[in-house]
Amino acid sequence: MDHFLYRDGVLHAEDVPLPEIAAAVGTPFYLYSTATLTRHFRLFDEGLAGLDHLVCYAMKANSNQAVLKVLAEAGAGMDVVSGGEYLRAKAAGVPGEKIVFSGVGKTREEMALAIQGGIRQFNLESEPEMLLLSEVATSLGATVPVTIRVNPDVDAKTHAKIATGKSENKFGIPISRAREVYAQAAALPGLEVIGIDCHIGSQLTDLTPFAEAFDLVVSLTEALRADGHDIRRLDLGGGLGIPYERSNEAPPLPIEFCNLIKEKVGHLDVEVEIEPGRLIAGNAGLLVSKVIFVKEGEDRQFLILDAAMNDLIRPAMYDSYHEVIPVIEPAPGAEPATYDIVGPVCESGDTFAKRRAMAKVGAGDLVAFRSAGAYGAVMSSEYNSRPMVPEVLVHEHQFAVIRPRPTFDEMINRDIIPEWM
Ligand code: LLP
Repeated sequence: MDHFLYRDGVLHAEDVPLPEIAAAVGTPFYLYSTATLTRHFRLFDEGLAGLDHLVCYAMKANSNQAVLKVLAEAGAGMDVVSGGEYLRAKAAGVPGEKIVFSGVGKTREEMALAIQGGIRQFNLESEPEMLLLSEVATSLGATVPVTIRVNPDVDAKTHAKIATGKSENKFGIPISRAREVYAQAAALPGLEVIGIDCHIGSQLTDLTPFAEAFDLVVSLTEALRADGHDIRRLDLGGGLGIPYERSNEAPPLPIEFCNLIKEKVGHLDVEVEIEPGRLIAGNAGLLVSKVIFVKEGEDRQFLILDAAMNDLIRPAMYDSYHEVIPVIEPAPGAEPATYDIVGPVCESGDTFAKRRAMAKVGAGDLVAFRSAGAYGAVMSSEYNSRPMVPEVLVHEHQFAVIRPRPTFDEMINRDIIPEWM
């Protein structure tokens, strides 16, 4: 459920009509609902009630500080994957003890930054990384809590570009070598081995791969405890999928995911962390755009929007589906149309949908891409010198720009012409 509904024939975000925001901000823009963000976080937080747990929002999905603040105030921790994300989380007021540092390629500088600013744990992904963290921590006179990310070689059955739990993927250490690597980590100064981390992929629409991975993590917990490690925290990753095409997709609900966790690890007396990103932010956001032209092709109609692949790259990158709906509700029985929905960028990859049946719209009309709150704005660029798409947050009857659209001057003046020219 989200908070984007038609009221009196006009799409609203919570209590604000979209045309009012479009008039104030211009198009295209991203729009997020505070109530939906909070609701999605609570589904996990309440779903895990009874277990000692922390929901660490994977902020790569949407890292605007206002979004982080909404979630942090609801009680979320953060999963970060770069020094930049770490500093953003801190800037949004998240304390270090609620920040988990993931990622396969943390640098010395990023490690030092997080140790000095405070960190809940590092999720380590390789032996060289273990050695480097040990060196950095000792040089700072610190001992840091760590988990080791294991790669369970489980097929997440998702898009190849976002599957992470197969042995051919770059992530984690092979689970078959875990006991050896844990022994090595335990012997290193500056590291305190406290748990296990596992994340097998994103946009999973079936619980079976999670169940397989969790079973392997449970067996590993028992084996490592028998080896003398004090395994007291399990980070079970994120990855639960969302319905992009509502009429024909029904991925498992957060409560089912949480119940699976309880069933699998409830008896272990561990603290549980999860790292959902997409499920929290995805359906809490829209990308709002305006129709520039409807163009007649030889055998099709092109709906040319003022949003493009630089603003929302997911369809071009993963062939992903985003529902596109008109902001003015079509009258019952209104004439439908079929469009190729495209942006103005100069490549054919700038196509959001092909042969898409939707309500008929015309030049100047507003449309909204659903499910755009995760991996939308964060993956945007200024390709074709199109200024970065702005972001807006709604809270009940109020809205605020939480990242402005740069002016053309601001965009252009970042370039520096060398003195010799
Ligand atoms: N934890 C780790 C270690 C991750 O790598 C990811 C996502 C998450 C948590 C959050 O997964 P989620 O709950 O959001 O599925 N740009 C792609 C998605 C990339 C996901 C990368 N890792 C997309 O637009 O579909």
